[in-house]
Amino acid sequence: MSLCRSSQQALRLGRRRAPPPSQRLPIRAMAGLTPPHQAAAISRLQTNVDPSSDEYRENERQMGEVTARLAELTRKMQRGGPDKAREKHLARKKMLPRHRITALIDPGTTFMELSPMAGYELYPEADVPAGGIITGVGVVEGVRCVIVANDSTVKGGTYYPITVKKHLRAQAVAQENKLPCIYLVDSGGANLPHQSDVFPDRDHFGRIFYNQARMSSQGIPQIAVVMGPCTAGGAYVPAMSDESIIVGEQGHIFLAGPPLVKAATGEVVSAEELGGGKMHSSVSGVTDYLAVDDAHAIVLARRSISNLNWPARSAPTQPPASTFSEPLHDPDELMGIATTNLRKPIPIREVIARVVDGSEFSEFKRDFGATLVTGFASIYGHKVGIVANDGILFASSAVKGAHFIELCSQRGIPLVFLQNISGFMVGTASERDGIAKHGAKLVAAVACADVPKFTVVVGGSYGAGNYGMCGRAYGPRFLWMWPNARVGVMGSDQLAAVMETVGQKADPELRARIDRETEATFSSARLWDDGIIPPQHTRRYLGLGLQAAMGGRNEVRAGDTKFGVFRM
Ligand code: COA
Repeated sequence: MSLCRSSQQALRLGRRRAPPPSQRLPIRAMAGLTPPHQAAAISRLQTNVDPSSDEYRENERQMGEVTARLAELTRKMQRGGPDKAREKHLARKKMLPRHRITALIDPGTTFMELSPMAGYELYPEADVPAGGIITGVGVVEGVRCVIVANDSTVKGGTYYPITVKKHLRAQAVAQENKLPCIYLVDSGGANLPHQSDVFPDRDHFGRIFYNQARMSSQGIPQIAVVMGPCTAGGAYVPAMSDESIIVGEQGHIFLAGPPLVKAATGEVVSAEELGGGKMHSSVSGVTDYLAVDDAHAIVLARRSISNLNWPARSAPTQPPASTFSEPLHDPDELMGIATTNLRKPIPIREVIARVVDGSEFSEFKRDFGATLVTGFASIYGHKVGIVANDGILFASSAVKGAHFIELCSQRGIPLVFLQNISGFMVGTASERDGIAKHGAKLVAAVACADVPKFTVVVGGSYGAGNYGMCGRAYGPRFLWMWPNARVGVMGSDQLAAVMETVGQKADPELRARIDRETEATFSSARLWDDGIIPPQHTRRYLGLGLQAAMGGRNEVRAGDTKFGVFRM
């Protein structure tokens, strides 16, 4: 996952070094002394991280390796299609899709790209960088919007199954967060050899237009900019939009292109005559504005957004800087705190201390169910409830998590889950203790909590722990992985052991395959997450996610959540 900025200055992330130990406040020593002005100090997380220790350095080395690999893969994905296709695109005087997005968003704002690793090593017959479509959240004329841009340098911008999935995911982000959609269309429609996997099912191509109709009916604006072909089913993207812009002599909309028309009816017609901008803007009325080139079309799209009369328009893109402070401890140190060896614990308070405003954390039930850390904090001035793993989930930790999620739901406070979980405790004692019903309380609370939820997988995400900690199936607004993270039913060793008990061979090949399938890049290629993020950018991504959740015509109302039956 990448953060693309339209100004270098805006790229800088706020970082502040931790104060020297002499200035750090001894929390325990202060217990009992709580005049109001010291309340914040009492909540301030301290650090025990020693950047000169061998363990820290080894973690940093390993994390550096996986992060560098991720950066290289991301660069490859962001280049788009092969050189030949990009040159052909530019020779047609078209802007490359990422340049279109940069021109579309407000200068100095961030484009929060979703799943740039989509499609990675997914199709044996072809590379489909970023899934052939670029999606994300960006600010246009002060309005936070979801942007969906076809990359026609990748197989003509045609829709592979992963392209459809990524387009639908972007629409889901728009719908949930109530953000206007801008579609930069440049696509040959369905990738025909994959037609059975993109066409008929519920979450296939047709769902794109269904979503457009539903979002429009909910007052979520739909704006299309036709900058290339828009063939067959694809023609419905502009046709279903509230407003459509087309580039003359470049954008084409038709249900069947000239070759098919000739075959079907014998009529010989040029693409421009059949579905060009001039015709659609003056004769058919399929489009509303005619642009002379990409740059002009982008200006028209910005103008359409400025006319939405969108309430968030005047809202600041960030709370004023004076309302929050950066973490006390350096987020770069997360590279020495995280580990690629998921058998080792990741001290989660050290992570929280580098993510939340001022490293302030009001911990809830600190000494009960201690393997789940819960508490209140703020991120860029947005109040959040943090639910974070610090070990295996026991009955007590699960019940505490459910209690805390109820509190946040009651108060309308968004939830941030920091996942590093190998699962719920197993064994006789645990079963007799009713771990299944207590774990179910946590899962039910997560499922029903009707406040924005955000998940960051900082280590392992295994088994039912994935459910209780708001995995993808539990509807987090955004789910990000750190590059060291892994997601799976269980680790490869445990899986091999189980397979052996059921009489199957568990050879090294199986283990290697399972290891590969649990990697973050494997997950991200399939859109099981919204992207892999460098640990030190976690705060920034959560901030952008919170802004997206709060930026639309969206109200988080306290007490909206209706919980089901909790088994006691
Ligand atoms: N399915 C699968 N592959 C397709 C495709 C489709 N619908 N349309 C194009 N491609 C492939 C081409 O074979 C080519 O592959 P290659 O790079 O391996 O040679 C690549 O995409 C680029 O196509 P090309 O025609 O060279 O590029 P272009 O920019 O000149 O034209 C299109 C792009 C999309 C306008 C043109 O290819 C086209 O009209 N395709 C058919 C569109 C169609 O009828 N779709 C039906 C959708 S329901």
